[in-house]
Amino acid sequence: MKSKLVIGNWKMNQSFEQAEDLTTAIEDALEDFNLSTEVVLCPPFPYLELVTDHADDGAHFYAGAQNCSQFTNGAFTGEISAEMLVSLGVEFCIVGHSERRKYFGETNAVIAEKVNRLVEQQLIPVVCCGETLEQRQNNQQFTVVEEQISETLFHLPKEKIEHVVIAYEPVWAIGTGETATPAQAEEMHSFIRSLVEKKYGTETAYNTYIIYGGSCNAKNAVELFAQENVDGGLIGGASLRADEFVQIVESAETSVSEN
Ligand code: 13P
Repeated sequence: MKSKLVIGNWKMNQSFEQAEDLTTAIEDALEDFNLSTEVVLCPPFPYLELVTDHADDGAHFYAGAQNCSQFTNGAFTGEISAEMLVSLGVEFCIVGHSERRKYFGETNAVIAEKVNRLVEQQLIPVVCCGETLEQRQNNQQFTVVEEQISETLFHLPKEKIEHVVIAYEPVWAIGTGETATPAQAEEMHSFIRSLVEKKYGTETAYNTYIIYGGSCNAKNAVELFAQENVDGGLIGGASLRADEFVQIVESAETSVSEN
């Protein structure tokens, strides 16, 4: 059984001081466990170094960015390149989050370019996919997710795809308090794994992490993580509270030891 992966996406929240306190509180709490779960914190860009400083101290604790540029270094005012992230000691980077698709017009083609920049730098892309409520109501969720995944990821060769994390985040569950049921999550995760299997084979499909995001919290994490194809979680709001985030990590540990 592979270990779980729990990623905290802080989005555009926290002052520097709050970020410092949150990182320290999470790290202190996690130090008390002998964790097999991989934990990634994704603060806003200016606070990344806080996390990379802590990440140096122990295994299973990593820093991730929430976005990167589709370009390499150069005259792109306001952008952050994958190479810069590497130079800070960052190891993961979220791309294609639905908030970036919605508010910043990111398309699958742009996201594919971002994936390329990250892979070139040996960073691990956490590539988001997920349908809107309207798409689910029209039973289009599988078509939408298949298109998102194939257009952002399936240009990669087999040896690269295993170093990519796929995050299924139904848009209707993000920040709404409405979580996908464990059965809905499992149905989509197993569909995504079957897509990877068809394209890259069984072993690669097994090794690829597929994590769930969308109102995941300390109460529902146990059951979500117990699903066969749910390899962990991408946590928004609940990752801003150290106690709750640590409980979610504990749920991931429990689900591995119980399986
Ligand atoms: P919430 O956990 O706040 O619903 O956010 C999920 C998310 O978008 C993580 O990337």
